[in-house]
Amino acid sequence: MKHTFERPPGFVYSSQKKRIPRSSGKAGRVAPIRQLNCEQLPLSDLAERFGTPLYVYSATSIRERVRGFARAFGGVSHVCYSVKANSNLSILRLLAKMGCGFDVVSGGELERVLRTDRPAAKRVVFSGVGKTAAETGAALKADILLFNLESPAEMEVVAACAAKLKRKARIAWRVNPDVPAETHPYISTGLRKHKFGVPIGEARELYAEAARSRYLQVAGVSVHIGSQITQFAPFRAAMERVAELVRQLQSDGHKIQYVDAGGGLGINYDGPQDFSIVVAEYADAVTRPLRELKVKVLLEPGRSIIGPAGALLTTVLYRKTNAGKKFVVVDGAMNDLIRPALYQAEHQIVPIEDFKAAPEIVDIVGPVCESGDFFAHDRTLPTVGAGDVLAILDAGAYGMALASNYNTRSRPAEVLVDGKSARLIRRREKVADQLRSEIFRNA
Ligand code: LLP
Repeated sequence: MKHTFERPPGFVYSSQKKRIPRSSGKAGRVAPIRQLNCEQLPLSDLAERFGTPLYVYSATSIRERVRGFARAFGGVSHVCYSVKANSNLSILRLLAKMGCGFDVVSGGELERVLRTDRPAAKRVVFSGVGKTAAETGAALKADILLFNLESPAEMEVVAACAAKLKRKARIAWRVNPDVPAETHPYISTGLRKHKFGVPIGEARELYAEAARSRYLQVAGVSVHIGSQITQFAPFRAAMERVAELVRQLQSDGHKIQYVDAGGGLGINYDGPQDFSIVVAEYADAVTRPLRELKVKVLLEPGRSIIGPAGALLTTVLYRKTNAGKKFVVVDGAMNDLIRPALYQAEHQIVPIEDFKAAPEIVDIVGPVCESGDFFAHDRTLPTVGAGDVLAILDAGAYGMALASNYNTRSRPAEVLVDGKSARLIRRREKVADQLRSEIFRNA
């Protein structure tokens, strides 16, 4: 049986004999302890070698999840990994090597893809409500697969850029299906009140308009209803609406080659999960309504590929007690992983070495100067002390990607593990890196 804190094949326990220190400081007895590994490497070795806070990713996990999508969807789909979830160049390279395309939402993300693998541009879809003319021009020059248009005003800009470059932009309208996604309000996107997409009821007219432009080529329909969605019904409902639209568009004479189903498949932050079962159910919800439409399905998963494949390691600095409440102060903070503060996310947190210490209830907090800086409130954790390392699980997605320099803290290093090897894929930022772009004159 999988242990609650395992995320196979990436994060798994192994057993090791180790001398267990006694609180008196005297050498203790030798006993087997469980240690958490990333693939074949103990996290304790990685923490020692690269320092903390440290993001650690499992290449095997990432690959297995991409294959999971391929198996569940068969040949009718293509994964366009959502770069925003984790945009590290080495991770993009690993995905590009597997043939993945990419979902980008800025010129910066496009540049990352081009830097990683220039030919992958032909597998890029570009979403977002605020694409600038410069970003659009760059994407046209790179000859990306698809622009997901989100407003008539934006359509005009894309058409004008294409005219200037004498190119034709392949487009899809991102439709807003008015389906509730049952997720955190900040990451729900498929309701009428949200800024995303165009109302599905207005889509036919907009397709007709796009088809009249010499510089636009109607190629697909796209939809994305939100993120961390753990029910399948919202996906099915959205795809049923999209399928109906595709039928109408085809009868209007449009050639709809692609249905871009967006991302949003949730993960289980409470424990391990059999991904092959989850992704199979997701595939059924997405593809069943589209049967017989002869379209290729594009998928934009982010979190479900990289989330459980990453953990954030952080070292305990101090313990303290305020009016009876226990705090464990660690060297990582909200600037390194903002999900608990921003979305009330509850990531599992576990000491990387399991000494079977007595459990206690603590708040796990960072050094940043606000009370929003926490990783967990009232969490039961085996008793830990200064120097112990904790792993914050499922931190691969929207962890490093949302990291900031708040409190002039330098962002963590990142390591990619593949079997027995660990490779530094981003060096730890230095304060000098942070100061480099500031303009400062001594008066
Ligand atoms: N496609 C589009 C158009 C998106 O807006 C997103 C995510 C995705 C794909 C990927 O969704 P995923 O498969 O990762 O759920 N920072 C938040 C999540 C923000 C999601 C934004 N859009 C968090 O940490 O929960």
